[in-house]
Amino acid sequence: MLDHVLTTIINPATGARIIGRTVSGDLADQAGGTLPVTDAGFVDARAADAPVGDDAAMVAARETFLSTGQFAPFVEAVTEEVLAGITAMPIADTATAVIADLGAGTGYYLAHTLDAGNNLVGIGIDVAEPAAEKLVHAHRGITSVCADATTNLPLADDSVEIVTAIFAPCNPQEVARVLHPYGQLIVVVALPGHLDELRQPLGTAAVTHDEVAEILEEFSTHFVPAAAPTIVEFPMDLDATAIATQIAMSPAARHIDPEVLADRAAQLPAKMTVHARAGVYRFGRRPQQDG
Ligand SMILES: C[S@@+](CC[C@H](N)C(=O)[O-])C[C@H]1O[C@@H](n2cnc3c(N)ncnc32)[C@H](O)[C@@H]1O
Repeated sequence: MLDHVLTTIINPATGARIIGRTVSGDLADQAGGTLPVTDAGFVDARAADAPVGDDAAMVAARETFLSTGQFAPFVEAVTEEVLAGITAMPIADTATAVIADLGAGTGYYLAHTLDAGNNLVGIGIDVAEPAAEKLVHAHRGITSVCADATTNLPLADDSVEIVTAIFAPCNPQEVARVLHPYGQLIVVVALPGHLDELRQPLGTAAVTHDEVAEILEEFSTHFVPAAAPTIVEFPMDLDATAIATQIAMSPAARHIDPEVLADRAAQLPAKMTVHARAGVYRFGRRPQQDG
């Protein structure tokens, strides 16, 4: 865990900034409180009623699928937007920039971006314990924090240069609070057509234009576009293993009875061309109105 990001983290129980470590390796805050660091190495900032997020099988399937490079166009597009966002900021080239990735999963996107830029450190936030465990090992520049990204973020006001939320939930008001006034938010949202060749036979809902509009509308109270959206779309040739891992990491794995899902999956051809389609949106903070 890098000292640079420690001062970015707050203890949600006290609201106080972290100032160092206790002798047992937990984090110590300014108010005399402590925030646990688990034996697995992640900061545990969950409230008692936090959701569980993805289970270990889904996280493992995502790691396997992403390792095949099938989503490379998405990771390249995210890294490009992050670096463009940082370049646009009024900070010195030598300054360290903090990137907080919400619903960070296995850390695939955050690790790729840290490798591509200079003076970048990452905070990977995911509410799922199996994801937080993966994030610990995803990159030496990543601090792994297990927390609910849809409530109060365990991050200090105006402390983060970039927030990313990639196919993941977030709380726009909280994102605006933790970003520097010049900070930027990068969101990746699945668009209509995304993985339709799999969704239709498996019986999972297709993404609709209305859903996308609703998601983007939620950001508009706190954010304004900082760049034109990038639509990333590409075909993937998937073999039986890739199809199975894509299904296992998808909402189908959570929402459909496993036996029904297995029956439907068994009807699929051994090889399929499946289209991926998402929008990459970069926002800046909406300037505060006086009075
Ligand atoms: C579809 S996956 C995307 C993971 C990663 N961003 C990627 O694209 O590879 C959604 C992730 O969000 C996490 N998640 C779900 N609800 C969450 C919440 N309320 N707070 C934080 N993470 C959450 C899940 O555990 C999962 O890792």
